[in-house]
Amino acid sequence: MKHFTRIADLGPEGVQQILAKAAAWKKTRPGAIFADRILGMVFFNPSLRTRASFEAAMLRHGGHAIVLEVGAGTWKLEDRDGAVMDSDRAEHVREGVPVLGRYVDALAVRTFSHGDGDAIDELDPVINAFRRFSTVPVLSMESAREHPHQGLADLLTIQEAHGTTKVPVTLTWAPHMKPLPKAVPNSFLLTAAACGAEIRVAHPKGYELAPEVRAEAEKYAAATGGKILYTTDQDAALEGSAAVYAKAWGPSTSSGLEAAPMADLGAWMPTAAHMQKAAKEAIFTHCLPVRRNLEVHDSVLDGPWSRVVDEAENRFHVQRATIDHLLNA
Ligand code: CP
Repeated sequence: MKHFTRIADLGPEGVQQILAKAAAWKKTRPGAIFADRILGMVFFNPSLRTRASFEAAMLRHGGHAIVLEVGAGTWKLEDRDGAVMDSDRAEHVREGVPVLGRYVDALAVRTFSHGDGDAIDELDPVINAFRRFSTVPVLSMESAREHPHQGLADLLTIQEAHGTTKVPVTLTWAPHMKPLPKAVPNSFLLTAAACGAEIRVAHPKGYELAPEVRAEAEKYAAATGGKILYTTDQDAALEGSAAVYAKAWGPSTSSGLEAAPMADLGAWMPTAAHMQKAAKEAIFTHCLPVRRNLEVHDSVLDGPWSRVVDEAENRFHVQRATIDHLLNA
């Protein structure tokens, strides 16, 4: 059975096929490709874009979606093997997940990192429990390690702006008052590498992405002719970039840092002055939601560079392509 919860499920060739299908279907809308199909959507965490875009993809093509918010109208789910279930988690994924498979044709799951460190995020326990126990295809709506549909939407946006993904792109760390998960920067890096981009990853010392993710990205870059450079010099990374992707994330576990020391790192927030260091035709992207004037300055989000709303629209387009890949191909 096919699942799509990580870029490795598609590999570079599959990523490029999904982007090609998504781009083609923006021009020629497919018909009732999900007629009589039901997508079960399981949310452990909130959402605006992910929920609306997945539901819209099903409804606009003849299908249906059932939304379950774990712990809010459904039982809280236990995912640990051998757990003594004496907490507030009344149902185990070993029963709950296959039961859902009796009602729906695919399961989409959102389960953020619990902030227990890079090693646990790498294991991605909850979404992998769904993969293990599901009797129908599983899609990620963001898990601890990756947000793969976001990465696909990001690269579709860059392709639309520049006619190719093989351009210099900067993934820059941005400030935040909380140590956010790394799923979004991981997915941008992996998807851009799968698309042959020249990637510059800029972050303060101590905010390195996990070695396993970097190794996977290097493998994709080697296969696609892409390049990856890691730097703590944000200005140097921005120089000549065709796309600037900003995202806050927390320190690496090995750094020993607890959270973002905001007073020291506020200058990392992208402003118009930062964007003027990029290429003349550069675009600005962010997965959203974004905290204005903390993570990204108004002058960027309201400026000529911003493609953040187009990028959010592209979630819909890449998702109908991946759902089709799982249900119809
Ligand atoms: N980018 C993204 O996943 O947005 P939501 O958290 O609103 O779904």
